[in-house]
Amino acid sequence: MRLDKFLADMQVGTRSEVKKLIRQKAVTVDGTVAKDPGMNVSENSNITVNGEEVSYVRYEYFLLNKPQGYVCTRDYSPNVLQLIASRDKNLNPAGRLDKDTEGAILITNDGQLVHRLISPRGHVDKTYYVETDRNIPANAREIFSKPMHFVDFTSEPADYQPLDDRSGYLTVHEGKYHQVKRMFQQLGCEVTFLKRTVFASLTLEGLETGEYRPLSEDEINYLKSL
Ligand code: URA
Repeated sequence: MRLDKFLADMQVGTRSEVKKLIRQKAVTVDGTVAKDPGMNVSENSNITVNGEEVSYVRYEYFLLNKPQGYVCTRDYSPNVLQLIASRDKNLNPAGRLDKDTEGAILITNDGQLVHRLISPRGHVDKTYYVETDRNIPANAREIFSKPMHFVDFTSEPADYQPLDDRSGYLTVHEGKYHQVKRMFQQLGCEVTFLKRTVFASLTLEGLETGEYRPLSEDEINYLKSL
């Protein structure tokens, strides 16, 4: 692959930033100062930037349609990582879904991206399909559209689209513990079924429950731009 792609993939900087580093003679390949951003390198090349070695890590990004009954930590079984056929021990879900929640979850070994997406400042939209045990109040849309107060956080305005008396789609911007269930509890309803249908614009289209797919280059770049 091209040297500038290697360095950009390893998150040393954007393509133009790494080109600048090469112009500044900050990059060596197998002991020689690199001059050409387009020079051919491989995963086994010995590459340094400002004297620091940059090893190649093959990043993997998957969108899983999580089934119920699976947890999102590797310490318990069954867990979502067991559904992914990859030998990379550094794969992790970006955030968590409850054991009884289904739906879209990103799984990757790109720790930097996970950190950004789940950080309190990372405003990633998530849409959930919700079913409840009793009728959802008629003014739910208005209530959800204003901040709601909980002991540990205040929710940002959320968007609610009712489907019928006991189901609808709720889009939230944070990912707090049991957030959606707790938001409905404030309206006096227990959530009986929860499925995340959209995570940061990634939908479950084409994925049966339990299936996953690798993300496209465009999807990965989009997530990195958030
Ligand atoms: N909100 C919840 O209550 N549970 C989930 O799994 C995700 C969001």
